[in-house]
Formats: sequence, C-alpha cells, structure tokens
Amino acid sequence: LPDGLALTPPMGFNNWNTTGCDIDEKMIRDMADIFVRDGLRDAGYQYVNVDDCWAAPERDPVTKRYLPHPTRFPSGIKALADYVHARGLKFGIYTSAGTLTCAKTMPGSLGFEEIDAQTFADWGVDYLKYDNCNNQGVDAKLRYTTMRDALKKTGRPIVYSLCEWGENKPWEWGADVGHLWRTTGDINDTWSKTVDIFKRNAPLARYAGPGRWNDPDMLEVGNGGMTTTEYRSHFGLWAMMAAPLLIGADLREISREHLDILRNREVIAIDQDKLGVQARVLSSENGLWVLAKPLAGGDVAVALFNETEANARISTTARAAGLPQRPGYQLRDVWTGRNYQSAGVISAVVAPHATTIFRVKADALGWPLREPLVSAGLEL
Ligand code: GLA
Repeated sequence: LPDGLALTPPMGFNNWNTTGCDIDEKMIRDMADIFVRDGLRDAGYQYVNVDDCWAAPERDPVTKRYLPHPTRFPSGIKALADYVHARGLKFGIYTSAGTLTCAKTMPGSLGFEEIDAQTFADWGVDYLKYDNCNNQGVDAKLRYTTMRDALKKTGRPIVYSLCEWGENKPWEWGADVGHLWRTTGDINDTWSKTVDIFKRNAPLARYAGPGRWNDPDMLEVGNGGMTTTEYRSHFGLWAMMAAPLLIGADLREISREHLDILRNREVIAIDQDKLGVQARVLSSENGLWVLAKPLAGGDVAVALFNETEANARISTTARAAGLPQRPGYQLRDVWTGRNYQSAGVISAVVAPHATTIFRVKADALGWPLREPLVSAGLEL
C-alpha cells in the first residue's frame, strides 16, 4: 500500500511456528522483554505479533466485538499491546477473512470487518495478519479490500499482511490492498519446505518494493529441525528476497548460535536496504544458485547458494551482478566478516545447503591501485 508504512520489510516475532494454538499473554510479554534484553529491538525487530487462537469462541452478544480468550489472555489485548508499546515495540494481531480462523477456535472477520478493525485500532494494534480460511467462496480481492478499507477508516496506521497463500496471485493485486502478501502455503521446520518456498518466491521479485512485499512466510530459524548451515541459508535467502523477517522461535529457549543468525546486522541490512529491491536470480544451474540484490548507494549483495549435497564452486562476475566496470571490487562476506578484493570474479566454494553472501562494492581497498588486482581465491 502506498501509504508510507512498511517502507522496508516488517521485522518482528510471531508465535505460530513454535506454539501453534498454544499461546498465552505471558509468552508475548516475554518476547517483548527479550527483544529489548537481547538486542533484537536494536537490530531492527519491531513487531511482536500474536497469531491464531487469541480470542474467545464467541463474540460479545451485544456489541459483536471480539472478546479475548479468558484463560490465554486474561488481562485483555489492550493491556498486552500497552505492555509491548511500553518497551518501544509494536503489537500485531491475527484473524481470518472468513467466518472462522484457520484453527477454527475463534470467529473470523468476514461480515464484521468494520467492527473488528475499530476494535483493533482501539486496542492499539499496529499490524494485522489476515488469513484466508473459511472464506465461504467470497472473492479474495473483495474480502481483503473490505478489510483494507475498514482499517483505513479507523485512521490508525496498521501494517496489513495478506495471508492468502498465493492462491489468487496476490502479487498481481496486493500492492493496492496490503503491505505484504504470502506467496505460498505454510512453511515448516524442514529444509525441503524451506527450499520449496524459496523457489516459488524468488521468481516474483519484480512485484516487490517499498510498502509491497512478497511474503515467503515466517522464519523457522531456531526451531530445531534444520542444521545451523541451513538456518543461515534460510535467513540469508529471506534477506536477499527482501522478505519480512518474523522470528518464529521461542526466544526463551533459542541457542546462542541461532540467536546470532537472527541478529546478524549485515544480513539484516541487506533485507532492510532502503532501495527495497528483491534479489533477482542470475542463474540456477544444477542446484547452484546466484542471486543479486542492488542496494542503496550502489553496492550489490550477491548470494551463492548450494542446494546440492556436495561442495561446489559457484561463480559469477561483478558485471553480471549489475556493478559498474571498475579495476577492482571489494567483497565482504557478511557471515564471516572477511574482506576480499577482486578484479571482477565473485566466486566461492560453498558447502552443501550453505549460502555465501558477499556485499560487493565497486571500488578497491587502497585506491588508486598500485598493481592490477587478481581475483581472490575465495576458498572458504
Ligand atoms: C494459516 C496460516 C498460518 C497460521 C495458521 C493459523 O495456516 O497460513 O500462518 O496463521 O493459519 O491457524
């Protein structure tokens, strides 16, 4: 939506990937505290979001408003939003553009859009994830547009996430309706699903931009089903695709190693780059992928992703990645922090399921050059 919100992809937390329906207010408060304590807020994570199952099974019989689930959220949603706001963070909520949400434990908003949008605004909601379940066959664009208009009518700035699973090609109409749209079905904590979603989302690059993002679903980093190498690839590829970065792990239990993936500033900077361009796939032969993401100021992020089961050298050139012709280039590996110089070749030996990401600058260290640079032998 061209309203000045979500000019970079939203960053935050959502409980679904770790708890499913088993959510309560204590967890959400804990996540807000941990965002502050462990530097996640400072790294750019902002939204603390509740997914399905937060409401009572029935609406208020008189006002028709949602009621918070009596045992999961006994203090109410307003109090929870206040708690999150008091920590300098924003609060997000969930419902469905249907008669029930996906877990079927609470009503959806179909037919109640204005009441619900106003309730959310009154509670201080900053982000709405709007799902697709139990939609009664009503046209998707109509259902999502009705809620867009209801949110707008409240006057409160609310980031609007269309969780339509890519069924009706939301990338073709979503830019006028929401700030982000799911491009696929649900992720899960497996390598095969993560790669499958990557392959579906990557070709949609041209539809993304500030205020209109492809959403390949929330992060699984830290949930335990993948190796650390795979989690780094998942996070790095999501950043290359300018995806929303919504942490989906319980931060009370996450390992230091996995937390450090989530708060890698240089990878986050690629995701959050102001230019707001999603990486283009330059090549993808035999499971060896090269992606390039132009960044504000002229740098380009280049990802070399090895989908295969064997070490492989993956190569491209600075020119192919869209950098201007120069005598030399600086390459910075954003995971290791090592710097290299190159005369133009961008290359690395990449381990199975790993992704090397270079931030490439069209300039050489020690400019002007005293002698011609040779491409660095980037054996990792
Ligand atoms: C759908 C969505 C998920 C999650 C669940 C909740 O499956 O795609 O992200 O919100 O519903 O029930």
